[in-house]
Amino acid sequence: MLNPLLREIQEDVMGFLNEIQLKYPEAITFASGRPSELFFDVQDFPEYFNLFIDYLCDKEKKDKQAVLNSLGQYNRAKGIINDLVVDYFKKDEDISADPESVIMTVGTQEAMVISVMTLCDKANDVVIVEDPSYIGITHFSILAGYQVEAVPVDEFGISPDILEQKILYFQKLEKSVKIVYIIPDFQNPSGITMPVERREALLALADKYGFFILEDNAYGEFSYQGNKPATLKAMDTNKRVIYLRSFSKTIYPSLRLGAIVADQLINDRGSVVRLSDLMAKVKGYITVNTSSISQAVFGGILIKNNFSLKNLNQSKIDDLKEKRNQLLASLNEYIQQSENKWAKSISWNIPEGGFFLKINVPFKVDKDEIIRCVEKYKVIITPMSFFYLGKGGENEIRLAFSNVSKEEIITGVKRLSLYFQSKFDQ
Ligand SMILES: Cc1ncc(COP(=O)(O)O)c(C=O)c1O
Repeated sequence: MLNPLLREIQEDVMGFLNEIQLKYPEAITFASGRPSELFFDVQDFPEYFNLFIDYLCDKEKKDKQAVLNSLGQYNRAKGIINDLVVDYFKKDEDISADPESVIMTVGTQEAMVISVMTLCDKANDVVIVEDPSYIGITHFSILAGYQVEAVPVDEFGISPDILEQKILYFQKLEKSVKIVYIIPDFQNPSGITMPVERREALLALADKYGFFILEDNAYGEFSYQGNKPATLKAMDTNKRVIYLRSFSKTIYPSLRLGAIVADQLINDRGSVVRLSDLMAKVKGYITVNTSSISQAVFGGILIKNNFSLKNLNQSKIDDLKEKRNQLLASLNEYIQQSENKWAKSISWNIPEGGFFLKINVPFKVDKDEIIRCVEKYKVIITPMSFFYLGKGGENEIRLAFSNVSKEEIITGVKRLSLYFQSKFDQ
């Protein structure tokens, strides 16, 4: 007897894409949204770790062995580098938070799980996600038995009008929308950035209907223009935003490090408590605590960089921008400028940051098409339909350009244009 809800989630999208990449190693892949390994400084791990040890010896007036022992031991569920992380949030992201309102998590994936499990009542609440969205939260929520509903995304992000209609619809059914999960910056999968006006509209709705916005800022620091809108959390005067921050792309994914800023006070059966305390309690039953060793490394990185990672990230941003520009140039050269009539029916957006670009095509792209495309044209793409809750995205493709070289982008787009051509020759 397995969890029957396993059948409710779409197929194992990540597993499918990973397998296809392993099966066709010669193919160029635009499927993987992994950060570029060129910037992983895993070899500097001991330097950062030792820097943090020295900092802790000094701060806690303890000898080195005692500090090392404490890092080997079980630790605080909320985390051990919260004071350093709030300095970083203040400096780089203009977010003011008290260390006690921060929870260090095992990536954003755990942050999403903690948020849903702390805030939502399965019987009476609905989790709302953007459509399309990152499936980490959608699939977890479905598997755990929460009701998940999607609100469409247009070129500016989630539609506030449709969101309001959904909230009112669920109110009639005596269900409440407690959480709305949003990726406002360089969204995965569509690459869209939400403009300021839309952010304001969303915050106003959260005030009006009393829901929390779960803001997932996995890509916000990778802005190509340097003038992206403020995060929802930085604009959050009424504490409607719970901020989820992954460090997988900032540093590297194997640290498995993320953070939640939950600075809300909650009325829990007559007493007022910190939401972050409730979340830490829930975390205690999921992962006990986040690896102190990973936190120590990140703490050392923050100390070394004086609590700003802007310089450290600049080369990553430059690299991503060059790749985005190459991708646009190649799409233009091999598709837009092509003599073929079909080319005019294909379009794409221009991401202003992040890892992803979306292409619209006048034919259906599904799993079988991906296999045909890789077998014949040696290029791997992701159907957008993988990221929709129900139907949707059948005519859309996601290209991830974070972990391919410029040469691969050129060859990959040439191959993609041959695949497109074949669709019109049929
Ligand atoms: C929008 C978004 N949120 C969260 C994650 C997962 O982040 P983490 O590695 O911190 O769990 C990803 C990973 O690709 C993502 O794209």
